[in-house]
Amino acid sequence: MTKPYVFITRKLSKETIQPLMEVADVHMWNEEENAVPREVLLKEAEKADALLTMLSEKVDKELLDAAPKLKVIANLAVGFDNIDVKYANQKGIAICNTPDVLTDTTADLTFALLLATARRIVEAAEFVKKGQWKSWSPLLLAGYDVHHKTIGIVGMGKIGEAVAKRARGFEMNILYHNRSRNMEAEEHTGASYTSFDELIETSDFIVCLTPLTAETLGMFTRESFKKMKKSAVFVNVSRGPVVDEEALYHALVDGEIAAAGLDVFVQEPVDEKHPLLTLPNVVALPHIGSSSKETRKNMMELCCKNIELVLCGQQPKTLVNKDWGLSVK
Ligand code: DGY
Repeated sequence: MTKPYVFITRKLSKETIQPLMEVADVHMWNEEENAVPREVLLKEAEKADALLTMLSEKVDKELLDAAPKLKVIANLAVGFDNIDVKYANQKGIAICNTPDVLTDTTADLTFALLLATARRIVEAAEFVKKGQWKSWSPLLLAGYDVHHKTIGIVGMGKIGEAVAKRARGFEMNILYHNRSRNMEAEEHTGASYTSFDELIETSDFIVCLTPLTAETLGMFTRESFKKMKKSAVFVNVSRGPVVDEEALYHALVDGEIAAAGLDVFVQEPVDEKHPLLTLPNVVALPHIGSSSKETRKNMMELCCKNIELVLCGQQPKTLVNKDWGLSVK
């Protein structure tokens, strides 16, 4: 009997895919740094029973229609805004993501970015390396305190809660805004629920962790930044399009807020000439929220396991379209 065909859109280690190779004919785009060209992906999709995708691949109607045999998509991310979930669901395709395994790693990065931005770590490190350190002076590269300040978390899911736990260690006052109240997070972290406006007006650190949806698209507008404190630090580890980048640029240049730490951008990879990258009060990272060696390995293994389970007729561990299975082909 021929084994089901699996296509992986980026190079993963042999050791990671080994268990999947026992049940499937596994092919992959053999490059670590460059994304699979769209035309190659469309061709592979024609044969595929399963796809293991990155968040950089657009899994849209065109791709789904090109894949008549497709049973499962495992996306190497907790976010799945790159996938047309509704259409895939109509086609009876299981969609899996990688929640939980990346929660603490992403929270660590969020806090690292917050600290780096507030305390001007990147600027300071560059200053030393460029030989600009001529004398000690009282206000040399002075940043903002983090401890005992107010943090406002927009999007209190699992990562938001893990960030709140870290904020407790810094004895911060924790506010959050979410679609609905998260009583468990309130109990575990002492966070208080507020309206979006109250959060942005009163927080010293505004941390965006919300998923990208039709509701959150462009939610940080010119008006939002105007409402923030002039000393506010804005941190985005969710998705770029949640923010109007032009509005953020003006807020930073006009002194409406103090600084921004950005792990994500509207267009990724971000153009090196992007106006935000020219500002000294911006710390920019290349979307590395969950990128630790341990966590990326766990995410890859979870994706492979989910594919294996579906191909063997079982329920995957982390399903996005929860009613899948009722409508399996
Ligand atoms: C995710 O998992 O959605 C993250 O953005 C990847 O780092």
